Amino acid sequence: MENIQRYTVTAALPYANGPVHIGHLAGCYLPADIYVRFLRAKGREVLFLCGSDEHGVGIAIKAQQEGITPRELIDKYHFIMKNAFHDFGISFDIYSRTSSPIHYETAQEFFSNLYYKNVFEKKISKQYYDTKFNQFLADRYIVGTCPNCAYEKAYGDQCERCGTSLDPIDLINPHSALSGEKPEMRETEHWYLPLQNYQDWLQKWILEEHADWKNNVIGQCRSWLNQGLAARAVTRDLDWGVPVPLADAKGKVLYVWFDAPIGYISATKEWAQQNGKNWEPYWKDAQSKLVHFIGKDNIVFHCVVFPSMLKAHGDFILPDNVPANEFLNIEGDKISTSRNWAVWLHEYLEEFPDKQDTLRYVLCSNAPETKDNDFTWKDFQAKNNNELVAIYGNLVNRVIILTHKYFDGKVPPCDVLNPLEENLAAEIAAFPKIIQDLLESFKLREALQELMNLARAGNKYLTENEPWKTYKDQPERTATVINYGLQLIANLAILSEPFLPFTAVKLKKYLQIENLNWDDAGAMNLLKVGTDISKAEILFEKIEDEAINFQIEKLNAKRPIIENILQTKNIPDLKQNITYDDFSKLDLRIATILEAEQVPKTQKLLKLKINIGLEERTIVSGIAEHYKPEDIIGKQIIVVANLEPRAIKGIDSKGMILMIHDEEKGLIMIQPEKEAADGSQII
Ligand code: 2FM
Ligand code: ZN
Repeated sequence: MENIQRYTVTAALPYANGPVHIGHLAGCYLPADIYVRFLRAKGREVLFLCGSDEHGVGIAIKAQQEGITPRELIDKYHFIMKNAFHDFGISFDIYSRTSSPIHYETAQEFFSNLYYKNVFEKKISKQYYDTKFNQFLADRYIVGTCPNCAYEKAYGDQCERCGTSLDPIDLINPHSALSGEKPEMRETEHWYLPLQNYQDWLQKWILEEHADWKNNVIGQCRSWLNQGLAARAVTRDLDWGVPVPLADAKGKVLYVWFDAPIGYISATKEWAQQNGKNWEPYWKDAQSKLVHFIGKDNIVFHCVVFPSMLKAHGDFILPDNVPANEFLNIEGDKISTSRNWAVWLHEYLEEFPDKQDTLRYVLCSNAPETKDNDFTWKDFQAKNNNELVAIYGNLVNRVIILTHKYFDGKVPPCDVLNPLEENLAAEIAAFPKIIQDLLESFKLREALQELMNLARAGNKYLTENEPWKTYKDQPERTATVINYGLQLIANLAILSEPFLPFTAVKLKKYLQIENLNWDDAGAMNLLKVGTDISKAEILFEKIEDEAINFQIEKLNAKRPIIENILQTKNIPDLKQNITYDDFSKLDLRIATILEAEQVPKTQKLLKLKINIGLEERTIVSGIAEHYKPEDIIGKQIIVVANLEPRAIKGIDSKGMILMIHDEEKGLIMIQPEKEAADGSQII
């Protein structure tokens, strides 16, 4: 095949069981869109794929809750989600769905391919069965009392109150969510993907050949690999999903996490059919780079399970990168669709019409790239007013207004150059490469900061030259400064496109540079002298306190009554007073968790590798029932750093992590409010 740089970029297929919120956008779809828009602006061949994930127990349960069929549910949400992405400029080449015939065919073919290669293991296991509804129960369909916190409505896979991961057999007094009856244990047969057979290969492929992946991704992968991989069932007893294409598999469907990633391939085929193209190079040509944008809860599926499936199949390329993000919280709390603790995209657009780029800007500048981050309405307002309005909008506005005031709306000549222009030109020339390098290494927040630095450079240049004062005595010098100001905003327009596409379109139109692209940027002759510049409308408007307070109140109305205030019952008594000297003996430090794994043959213990600034250390901590290893990598914690080391289960543990003991929720990690340098002291 010809030597071409081709990109197959996927964004996680969201479950079609609810509208889209800002956490989705910040975690996956916005970064993917920024990256893809950049690739397109560079003239690279890129296919950007997404679609609804329409199978799985979550869909079946949500349909049941809404009193409709799964088909009705997915038909409703597929279009709501598709429209929300479109409204925010997420520029998918196709937004497909896993209920499409082409997907059924592709997923079944994939399964059969592996089946006939004898890749799968067939195993019998015991599972709960609802005798009234005559069906096996998925973990979510079994409800009972949580063994950890005694919550009576815990699900078979997780307790929603204390967050503990559960197995259905852990539940006390289990009953079926369908019939309410006590379920029976029955044997069932399923096909398993033996991940253990891919362990050595994955170890090398990820940890050696892709050591450049993001730290949070590598950290989670290492943690999975250290725990040792085991076979995972790829089929389920369920009546909603892609039927297993075997005669002896009646009533069984493909596990949603088996069929969903194959959805990327099906979407490519559908796109190719619609556009008269060949789908194969996007998945089979070694020159194509496959990049998966996902949230952190999808890492194991995209870095371990799907690559093992692709490897077992043999016809497909493997992911080149999986730039997963962490999670976005809102006003200090985890986003929760069931508690309605979310900012929904469709509501945002009703309340802030035409302000898509403001949200894109705020979410990108605060993206949870390396750790969970918080969205607050005050920060949203500050970023809009102090950055987009005061820096970006102000620059564009001033330059265009002055062009009209002094030069009849035409690009003036630049005949009176001095060293300031030389410096500015050199500075501008560097920006495209700086931003490109950051985008190519998935540092989108920093890339956006650099874009704003370009606008800052423009404001500084205007302030230094004060063209509004010089026109009377030095009209030619003023013309030069305005010319340079215009050239700078032309650069800004081009380089803004991935981040602020709506603004970039407007700005390019004002300047008549719709045909210019990334590689044109960096120059100071983008606009010809005499070109007409349109009068600009305001690009970004100030957002007033009223609008922000309305949003904060709206959210606060959703906050559950602060139960803790009412439940002051079992608060432990205060301990005896200590002297300040006693306190000052404690050496408390900030540290970051680098690696985490379960201590074998224990329920409660995690072995953690942490960085405390001065060194890396091992700590054994009794938090395994409250935190999964893969969820805490990258988190900052507070450590008692001078606690006498001791051996726990044969591991030397140096220090202790500070935790909150909440009677209801169990152990909660204490974290700094802002990221702080590892090794910083708590004083
Ligand atoms: O976590 C989720 O929302 C899943 N529906 C993501 C699937 S990604 C891919 F495999 F399709
Ligand atoms: Zn619980």
